[in-house]
Amino acid sequence: MKTLFITGGSTGIGAASVRKFIGQGWNVGFMDINREAAEMLQKEVGKPEHLLFTEGNTRSREDIRKAVEATVKRFGAIESVVANAGIHRCNTLLDIADEELDLMIQTNIYGTVNTLREAVPQIIKAGGGSVVINASDQWFVGKPNSFAYGLTKGALGQITRSLSIDLGRYNIRVNAVCAGTIHTPLVDNLFKNFAEVNNCSIDDYWKEENALYARGSAGRPEEVAELIYFLASDASSFCTGGHYLVDGGLVAR
Ligand SMILES: NC(=O)c1ccc[n+]([C@@H]2O[C@H](COP(=O)([O-])OP(=O)(O)OC[C@H]3O[C@@H](n4cnc5c(N)ncnc54)[C@H](O)[C@@H]3O)[C@@H](O)[C@H]2O)c1
Repeated sequence: MKTLFITGGSTGIGAASVRKFIGQGWNVGFMDINREAAEMLQKEVGKPEHLLFTEGNTRSREDIRKAVEATVKRFGAIESVVANAGIHRCNTLLDIADEELDLMIQTNIYGTVNTLREAVPQIIKAGGGSVVINASDQWFVGKPNSFAYGLTKGALGQITRSLSIDLGRYNIRVNAVCAGTIHTPLVDNLFKNFAEVNNCSIDDYWKEENALYARGSAGRPEEVAELIYFLASDASSFCTGGHYLVDGGLVAR
């Protein structure tokens, strides 16, 4: 039985991934700052013998170390890591505050680097496996008011390339998932803020966003979890160093 370690597993794409891997018979250790949502997910999923939650912040290498250690102690090894935790803030080069730029870099870049620095040595110990990085469609395209988010996701796209070369000899594949807009709390909060600022309804934002996608609606977390699972599993044995779109045709426009 294989073991996954995933960050940001309490809600959205992370929670859908937890469900998917557990459904496929994996052990899952997940770390998140949101304990309340983690407990709800644990109750929903059941299978406490295969699911371990550790509270922690990816910005802290110490928190990651503890969560990785707890996962190895409980399940014996880690064969796959999904660096998923991330945040979005709206800003441009001209208006971003120093604190916000720092928060974005600390969370999306350092959070991912911390996760990989602690989890990858465990995958090497296990004899190899896979790394999946949750990047974004913003590896491929720029979007308005998304300066710092695009900056951080671009960095994750590059990390994917260099790591795939360095880790190949350890039998570790490294790939990035690049999703279009997915209906999760992250985007709901974003649209809620837009709606408040512009004095309109959140439904108006979703209507406009949905219209950008070939099928007329944005993605669902489960649809991204399918790709994450494929890239983590042996089914993708010849995939490494790649950036995989799951974007409903957005980038094709
Ligand atoms: N939703 C989208 O449209 C979309 C599109 C492309 C990429 N992504 C990426 O997918 C990933 C997951 O996003 P989501 O949409 O599921 O959002 P979400 O807000 O539903 O989930 C993110 C999870 O990460 C946790 N988290 C945030 N910061 C953390 C930290 N410092 N330490 C530990 N946990 C932390 C949150 O508590 C939450 O449970 C992010 O990296 C995001 O950038 C999302």
